[in-house]
Amino acid sequence: MTFPPLKNDLLLRAARGEETERAPVWVMRQAGRYLPEFRKVRESHEFFEVCRTPELATEVTIQPIRRYSGLLDAAIIFSDILVIPQAMGMEVEMKPGPYFPDPLNTPADIAKLTKDVDVNKELGYVFEAITMTRNALKGEVPLIGFCGAPWTLFAYMVEGGGSKTFQKAKTWLFQYPQESEKLLMRIADVCVDFLVGQVKAGAQLLQVFDSWAGELAPHHFQQFSFPTLQHISSGVRQKLASEGIPAVPMTLFAKGANHALSQLAEQGGYDVLGIDWCIEPSEARRLVGDKVALQGNMDPNVLYGGKDAIEREVKRMSESFRGTKPPKGWIANLGHGITPAVDPEDLRWFFQSSRRVI
Ligand code: CP3
Repeated sequence: MTFPPLKNDLLLRAARGEETERAPVWVMRQAGRYLPEFRKVRESHEFFEVCRTPELATEVTIQPIRRYSGLLDAAIIFSDILVIPQAMGMEVEMKPGPYFPDPLNTPADIAKLTKDVDVNKELGYVFEAITMTRNALKGEVPLIGFCGAPWTLFAYMVEGGGSKTFQKAKTWLFQYPQESEKLLMRIADVCVDFLVGQVKAGAQLLQVFDSWAGELAPHHFQQFSFPTLQHISSGVRQKLASEGIPAVPMTLFAKGANHALSQLAEQGGYDVLGIDWCIEPSEARRLVGDKVALQGNMDPNVLYGGKDAIEREVKRMSESFRGTKPPKGWIANLGHGITPAVDPEDLRWFFQSSRRVI
């Protein structure tokens, strides 16, 4: 597939650990409800309808690029991590948070899942949206593809939605560890095929979201999440290589798993590690050495603090990530997704402040 030539490769260079004239910047959930133009689309279309309709997914992916023209260094395809449980045969609704009418209650329910998931058949609409978006972006910025990490997806599939305690998901881990590990690896296999398909369709960087990594004790993260994350990075690289497709950088955002940063840098197989705001950037850099690039990590709620607070925090973050040198291997971002009540002009200020200090 040929696409318009890329005019801004800051993100890809930073992801490869290279020095950049300034740090590239984007924010997680940048296509979302804080944008009035997104809410407008959602008035007449269900959440998963937007995901499943390439024209709509392309439109909302591009909305922030259009609004913040020239200020954003990446687009992320509009979709959701829960498209994988759907592809595995589960029903998922968004009302307004994720809701599974028929979650996995016991390991016997695993039999209800689709055996060999054909990602082209089940998730071809994501691939179409990626190709369409790549063309619509006209090379302005690179396009990020993504998926959820197995532990985070497993938690939703077992809990049947969000949770504060993860009691059901953890009951599985501790009562049925072998069945859990098997299911986690089965999800990881779907992640591999799904990410490879996204690269074939035009994704230029891949991000894996392990949003609930921090809910696990360090040794349980080692047992139940880390092996699946390694399986994904090595599986994607192997499959791309065996099909003669050039590799793309891979980012892992294991939220709350800062205890695992040095091991993830050494053995995780990712080019970039995303960090939340609960670790000082300079400390994260000390832990990972120069093995990986870092992405993050301003507390998204600073966006509610007004322009002075935003500017001050961006400056502080930048100094902590880069010291006094030009930025190397740092992608400016929030430490988690932007939330719906943010004023889009405050986000603009975040981008503008980033450009000034970085
Ligand atoms: O702009 C982007 O970042 C791309 C699109 C994107 C969405 N979800 C759209 C979305 C991405 C990358 C995700 C990832 C995602 N989805 C994660 C990992 C990142 C994270 O936030 O930890 C998770 C855990 C989910 C699952 C999910 N989807 C939840 C828990 C919710 C409800 C909570 C919420 O924020 O409202 C969603 C819904 C969702 N996904 C929305 C959007 C824009 C809002 C729903 C709406 O439009 O009504």
